Amino acid sequence: MKRRAFIRQTCITCVSGGLIPFLITGCQATHYASGVMDATGISVSKSEFTYLKKEQTLTRQYIIVQNDKLEFPIYVYRFSDTEYSALWMKCTHQGAELQASGEALHCPSHGSEFTNKGAVSNGPAEKNLRSFPIIIQTETITIDLRQS
Ligand code: FES
Repeated sequence: MKRRAFIRQTCITCVSGGLIPFLITGCQATHYASGVMDATGISVSKSEFTYLKKEQTLTRQYIIVQNDKLEFPIYVYRFSDTEYSALWMKCTHQGAELQASGEALHCPSHGSEFTNKGAVSNGPAEKNLRSFPIIIQTETITIDLRQS
């Protein structure tokens, strides 16, 4: 194999090997939910966190809540039925929209990373993400936008 062909093949293998697991994880885990706005904030059904697989009800770790009235989506992570975090998906470095991948949020612009509680885990961002209180009801959760 010639040198140029070897380098091309090696690069394709390395890039594919690194990206495919990330893309598969992201695709499997990401669920978008349309929230309903009211005077308090934005509400979604708790059922958005569940799905059926082979006749079993499984639970998603997180969902992305969207609404036309929101400038950025909100990442809602479910720790338990009584504990959630709601994070504004706007990078605190220069304002890019973040991408969710499991328990972390990544910034495609300069590589900052945040935990599922909004803490910076990798810079250049220095400030934690904006977070919102969650009001938990029997069938729904409401992201309280009043204190923003
Ligand atoms: S805008 Fe997110 S790291 Fe720079």
